[in-house]
Amino acid sequence: MSTDIYDVIHRRRDVRAQFSGEPVPDDVLERVLGAAHAAPSVGLSQPWDFVLVRDPGTRRAFHDHVRRERAVFAASLTGDEAERFARIKIDGVLESSLSVVVTYDAGRGGPAVLGRHAIADAGLYSVCLAIQNLWLAATAEDMGVGWVSFYREPFVRRLLGIPPGIRPVAWLCLGPVVRLETVPDLERHGWRRRTALRTAVHRERWCRPPGRAER
Ligand SMILES: Cc1cc2nc3c(=O)[nH]c(=O)nc-3n(C[C@H](O)[C@H](O)[C@H](O)COP(=O)(O)O)c2cc1C
Repeated sequence: MSTDIYDVIHRRRDVRAQFSGEPVPDDVLERVLGAAHAAPSVGLSQPWDFVLVRDPGTRRAFHDHVRRERAVFAASLTGDEAERFARIKIDGVLESSLSVVVTYDAGRGGPAVLGRHAIADAGLYSVCLAIQNLWLAATAEDMGVGWVSFYREPFVRRLLGIPPGIRPVAWLCLGPVVRLETVPDLERHGWRRRTALRTAVHRERWCRPPGRAER
């Protein structure tokens, strides 16, 4: 296990094909969820919940839904892009032994959430920070995480009995891996390349740096 923060940040990958299928040890899961729960949150609202989904039937139903949504996206592509997408795996729901669905409760800590009165999205930002903590802690534990967003919220709501007012934010596949790739899948498949830091850094005012691609 490496806990050097920069090493973990750069080793972290979105995992689909490399899950070994082994279970996540209970103590590891406790630490990873503990890291997520330690994230900063607007007004200390901690507006997240974690639904642990192990049931193969539930994961299969979600996976079937993801396949249908994959087809919806694929239908919007043509030519080279369509061919490249056809080669890309977009989830490891069946290959990983555990899914962690992270939800957002806008009512948590309310109605006066300190720091959210002008920026409603600050609650969602907080949930994303919990997800990133989870992702990095899992990497430090030599586990893989894959974020799956090919779904419609009402479907996931129905599947998991998520009540009105609570929003599913991420379906995460979590589990031991045979390895972590060093290059993101989308880059390996020629879908998109990572950009250089300098193209994202602005000085004093926002401006489009020369040479930055429009897309
Ligand atoms: C909000 C969000 C949603 C994502 N949804 C998917 C997804 O549905 N399927 C998938 O294969 N990867 C998904 N990813 C993973 C990204 O494709 C991946 O993070 C990106 O290509 C960079 O690769 P890396 O995470 O390995 O560095 C998602 C990532 C984020 C942050």
